[in-house]
Amino acid sequence: MSVFDFEPILSNIRQFADVATDLAELQEFCVSCIAESRPHYNWVGFYMLDTNDPDVLVVGPFRGAPTEHVRIPVAQGICGAAVAHGDVIIVDDVEADPRYLACSLETKSEIVVPIRVDGDAIGEIDIDSHSRCAFGGEDRAFLEECAAIIGHFIGQHPR
Ligand code: SME
Repeated sequence: MSVFDFEPILSNIRQFADVATDLAELQEFCVSCIAESRPHYNWVGFYMLDTNDPDVLVVGPFRGAPTEHVRIPVAQGICGAAVAHGDVIIVDDVEADPRYLACSLETKSEIVVPIRVDGDAIGEIDIDSHSRCAFGGEDRAFLEECAAIIGHFIGQHPR
């Protein structure tokens, strides 16, 4: 089996980050690139802490089915746990994780990767797949690099 090469996607995102004028534009570009390149990433989106209420995540640009979870308290969900602890969370089988907030009945696995600015988690990239165990170390490393590009951009263009 050939190994997927994530570098061209990262290169596109890095180049776009150099010219993007605001965060929403860069996030739109990211979700579009990532979803088109990885068809088994069935929902790809951002959640960012509400600048007026840092105990709540607000959905940002996404690709995939509309979600009822447009605002997620930091105390809830896999999304909340990832930003609260500042750690990547990979869930191989969402049915087995009591924290899971269902977006689509088809979702089987999920990865959430925090976005940090000056060391603080201020948002995240959230990906769902219709397959169990869809996310491994290479997906994690790729998405951590995406999150680092976004975090660097926010550091230079404060919200
Ligand atoms: N599954 C997430 C909620 C977001 S939707 O998947 C888009 C969670 O458990 O926090």
